[in-house]
Amino acid sequence: MFEQALEKLVRARIPGVFVPTLEEDRVLKAVRAAIKNLLVQRVATPEKVRLFRWSRVSGWVETLKKGDSPDMWVWDSVPWDRYDSDLTSTLRALRSEEIGQGQWDFVSILDAGTELSGPENVVAVRMLREILAETRSDGVARTIILVGADFDLPETLRADCRVLPFEIPDTASLGEILGTRISALKNSYPEIVFDSTQIENFIRACLGLSAGEALHLLSLSIVTHRAFDDRAVELALKEKKALVKSSALEYRTPRLGMDDVAGLENVKEWIRGCDKLWKNRETAKQRGCSIPSGLLLIGIQGCGKSLTAEVLAGHWGLPLLVFDVGSLFGSLLGQTEGAFRKVKEILNACKPCVAFIDEIEKSFGGQGDLDGGTTGRVNASFLSWLQEKPEEIFVVASANDIGKFVESPEIIRAGRFDQIFFVDLPDEKARAEVLAIKFRQRGYRANDPVIKKCIAEGANVSAGYSPAELEACVKSVINRAFNEGVEVPRAAWLLEAIARRVPLSRTMSEKLESLRGWVRDGRAEAASLAVIGQNGKPAERRSPKADGGGFPVLR
Ligand SMILES: Nc1ncnc2c1ncn2[C@@H]1O[C@H](COP(=O)(O)OP(=O)(O)OP(=O)(O)O)[C@@H](O)[C@H]1O
Ligand SMILES: [Mg+2]
Repeated sequence: MFEQALEKLVRARIPGVFVPTLEEDRVLKAVRAAIKNLLVQRVATPEKVRLFRWSRVSGWVETLKKGDSPDMWVWDSVPWDRYDSDLTSTLRALRSEEIGQGQWDFVSILDAGTELSGPENVVAVRMLREILAETRSDGVARTIILVGADFDLPETLRADCRVLPFEIPDTASLGEILGTRISALKNSYPEIVFDSTQIENFIRACLGLSAGEALHLLSLSIVTHRAFDDRAVELALKEKKALVKSSALEYRTPRLGMDDVAGLENVKEWIRGCDKLWKNRETAKQRGCSIPSGLLLIGIQGCGKSLTAEVLAGHWGLPLLVFDVGSLFGSLLGQTEGAFRKVKEILNACKPCVAFIDEIEKSFGGQGDLDGGTTGRVNASFLSWLQEKPEEIFVVASANDIGKFVESPEIIRAGRFDQIFFVDLPDEKARAEVLAIKFRQRGYRANDPVIKKCIAEGANVSAGYSPAELEACVKSVINRAFNEGVEVPRAAWLLEAIARRVPLSRTMSEKLESLRGWVRDGRAEAASLAVIGQNGKPAERRSPKADGGGFPVLR
């Protein structure tokens, strides 16, 4: 796929291509393959193609030795005589290079990010810009390929240089790459059993990693354990968590289920209503169904938005990738676009998956013109990604602040959210459920008479408290019981803990009311069956349609 995309750009005589990746070898191999293909199609002649490679420490020229058939053509490398460890000098030499009739030069510049960013490299950037512009306007047959860690391509190079992401391999290509290595390992380690289910699990665990990283983990695991078992999968998952974390994503394995969610009946019902469609996507699509792929949760802190994302992923057996848009837009200057590209690549490789975009409202606004328009550009590409993302990436987005939606309703439109829920504070029944769940999660039985009393009395006095606040109270009384040497916490302690806490809803009642007012205008469904309406009274019961098509109208 990459080869074809590269070939297309080369044929279109695009003078520069930037491939953001550290997998130099795979890119160079793909470049050679694309060139060979052009030759087979007689777009160029083998004798007249030269492939230059420059890095700060070495320079090579490769030419093709023709064999009887294209399969027998081999690349021949010799040191590049005009190579210089300084990129500017090399580019100068390249510029003066004669490109004769029918000749085609390809130049790969390695570590492009380091070589072309920062004030010390402005001359190299300028030189490159002039070469690219000349190449385009004079119709010279020269293609410059920039390879290296992702960075925001300087504005001045954008006119003549395209960014071509080097895809993180998907299941099929990762299977092929790892399969080849496994065949080789089978010869070297005949005593090791490579079980096919284990291979499948390993491939799945490696999704999201580059081919080089996956291969490295495979070798590491074999060498360390002299076996190919669950430890290889664990290692891959651990590495993946660390690697994904270095982007604006965090990889989480969902642990909680529907039973861990108190209230939010409408959300749970909607999720269950989508089960069949989501799990049988292909058949459903053939039957003309639209597959739900986006859910927006609006509400105040601590009421279960993040929890819902986790539970949804766990319920459908999908990995959860938490996408921190705040940190993406707060990335160091010059790294935002690259960071977003990385996020898209990882999500694509991990699909089907759930992407949780916490505080989606942060994806708007930012540094204005301070960063040369990068924030605006990434904002726009974030919105178009939301609109065009593959449907196997189910987006759950959360928002605490509706101000941004009122200013820029396009976030909601772009999100193609199949459903928007307002997650309100729990009513008494839901508060009792929260308390029961939180005691149960810590090993206390909800039908123990003392715990039962805690739950009933605690739920009764805690109107206005969020589940997160109730959880904090439960934690404190359990610690108190331990400190006082009592087996089960007393109900009076829980009431004390609740009374001592000032709930957020009291300090931000105005904000909460404005949120509720926005929702009452029909812009979102209530997440729970009984929602506290104005003056603390339950609002009317509304139940959402779980047909995936209930897109609320934004007025
Ligand atoms: N409905 C609920 N049922 C059970 N536990 C809940 C519920 N809502 C929240 N919690 C618990 O409260 C804590 C905070 O919840 P969560 O992170 O989901 O809130 P949030 O709405 O995402 O808040 P924020 O806006 O601060 O991100 C978690 O430990 C979660 O388990
Ligand atoms: Mg949250």
